[in-house]
Amino acid sequence: MCGIVGYVGKSQAPAALLQGLRRLEYRGYDSAGIATLNGGGIEVRKAVGRIAELERLVSDEPIHGHLGICHTRWATHGAVTQANAHPHFDRSGHLALVHNGVVENYLELRAELEAEGHIFTSQTDTEVLAHLIGREFDRLGVRSRDALVEALRHALGRVIGTYGIAMIHQDVPGALVGARRGSPLVVGIGREENLLASDAAAMISHTRDVVFLKDYEIVALDAEGFQISTLQGDGVGYEISQVEFSDKDVSKGDYPHYMLKEIFEQPKTVRDAMRGRLDREQGTAKLGGLEMSNAEIRDVERVVIAGCGTALHAGMVGEYMIESLAHIPVECEFASEFRYRNLPLPKDTLVFVISQSGETADTLAALRESQRKGHRTLGICNTVGSTIARESDGGVYMHAGPEIGVAATKSFTSQLVVESLIALLLGRITHLSHGEGLTILRELEALPDKVARCLELNEHVATIARKYAQSDVMLFMGRQFNYPVALEGALKLKETSYIAASAHPSAELKHGVIALVDEKTPSVFIAPRDAVFEKNLSNIEEVKARKGPVIAVGTEGDERLAQVADDVILVPEAPDFLTPILTVIPLQLLAYHIAVERGCDVDKPRNLAKSVTVE
Ligand code: G6P
Repeated sequence: MCGIVGYVGKSQAPAALLQGLRRLEYRGYDSAGIATLNGGGIEVRKAVGRIAELERLVSDEPIHGHLGICHTRWATHGAVTQANAHPHFDRSGHLALVHNGVVENYLELRAELEAEGHIFTSQTDTEVLAHLIGREFDRLGVRSRDALVEALRHALGRVIGTYGIAMIHQDVPGALVGARRGSPLVVGIGREENLLASDAAAMISHTRDVVFLKDYEIVALDAEGFQISTLQGDGVGYEISQVEFSDKDVSKGDYPHYMLKEIFEQPKTVRDAMRGRLDREQGTAKLGGLEMSNAEIRDVERVVIAGCGTALHAGMVGEYMIESLAHIPVECEFASEFRYRNLPLPKDTLVFVISQSGETADTLAALRESQRKGHRTLGICNTVGSTIARESDGGVYMHAGPEIGVAATKSFTSQLVVESLIALLLGRITHLSHGEGLTILRELEALPDKVARCLELNEHVATIARKYAQSDVMLFMGRQFNYPVALEGALKLKETSYIAASAHPSAELKHGVIALVDEKTPSVFIAPRDAVFEKNLSNIEEVKARKGPVIAVGTEGDERLAQVADDVILVPEAPDFLTPILTVIPLQLLAYHIAVERGCDVDKPRNLAKSVTVE
């Protein structure tokens, strides 16, 4: 949520900053701003709207300098206006700051500063932060980088809330200073240049060597190097990590949208999620990152899975997978509820948190709450080095590569693959035979080709999408493994097309939802040939009897669906627990094509941000 980039070095800062900012647009896109230090003073440009608006402004009214900061905003405090866009300044106008996070006690701090005569020009919590740090700096009376760090340290001691900060001061030329608590911040180590950003993607044109800052750390950078210290003032060491992805991975290539590109990457990402993890000899999965012995896994009495949005839906499929393959009771929870709920859990409970970004505030809080209660926590994340990945006791990376489209697609199927590997591993320890394990491995290996076959349905799905694109309401129904897929299909449609879509277990239809059915309300049934296929067929009949149009996602070779449904999309056959990895793909395509048809901004839906780092 909100993207920040800072640059100090030999090149012109505006070009490096804007290039980095474009890579962070997925984090928020209601307004953007940039400030650079040019000779004597700070120059600033701000624009409401997408980053393209800011680029236009900077091209019309250029700014210069070798040091600067910039920001793309997802509004929390204060409306979307130019005045509320970052960077914000302190009272002297010499300190410029960008911020990601929420200062919870900003009203109290603002009142204190106003009583001292500070005048604010925005409604944001960030401007309060800038004034607070500026006041501390002015009180110190020394104009040095160390003094700027000291002032930041004093000011942050007063702050309740979360922050990822980057700031510059015109009296300390050449210094870029940042701090983090709860919002990600990464240092990029270049040659005669250094960067600071919310995400490594912002700096890969400059460097692949990065340092992930930890909470309560402050960093001071110049063109030659950087120092990290704690909020208490102690110097700390750091580990340099290499970013695995390249410029190409974060570009759209020939695709019109990231969402479509990422949907089409799934044969590869599904393969990558299982690469090196299939142990044919033992008929099981190898997941070294779990850091658990077989004896420890044997003792697991219960599993809890927590996540938000798409990751939550993946967790719900994981619940069915682990219960059916490993016979261990599983509870899947909204991370936001779990963190405040006092769920009684047995001693040997294993907690999985799922998060593509590894930064979602509620998921991180669920992880920390589980750790506080003494449970072992495992993270299923995509972003290497993310907070959740670092703070979990162990985990499994998805290896899906950067996901830029705000609507999650490839990360969902990667999460499902990882969960099926976990279910297999647990199952092989509890009761599955070697032969059963081998059969599951063969089915997993067959998946990438089947995913590719699902993508061949693209044109067919686009045709169906055109037919239903003007609907006001759509219903999604599925049972068992495919009930969470119904939820995910509805979420994709809501996010990208703003159609009111709701998802339900098919059997719930009769308990209220059926009242919504009429000629203008299409129902999407996810009905592969599985243990509950016949039951789904009956539910489709119930909708048809009330003249509701039906789109059915079924299994290749099935003829019965075509007799009852108006439109049929058939995916390859798979064991019940793997069907979600295939059935979700037409639903992703359906949401994509409907959104395009309705003229929606597919990659940047209104009001959303990809990484939600506030509660
Ligand atoms: C946001 C995104 C969703 C995503 C959810 C969880 O709401 O818009 O697409 O599923 O956050 O994100 P995570 O990074 O934790 O998987």
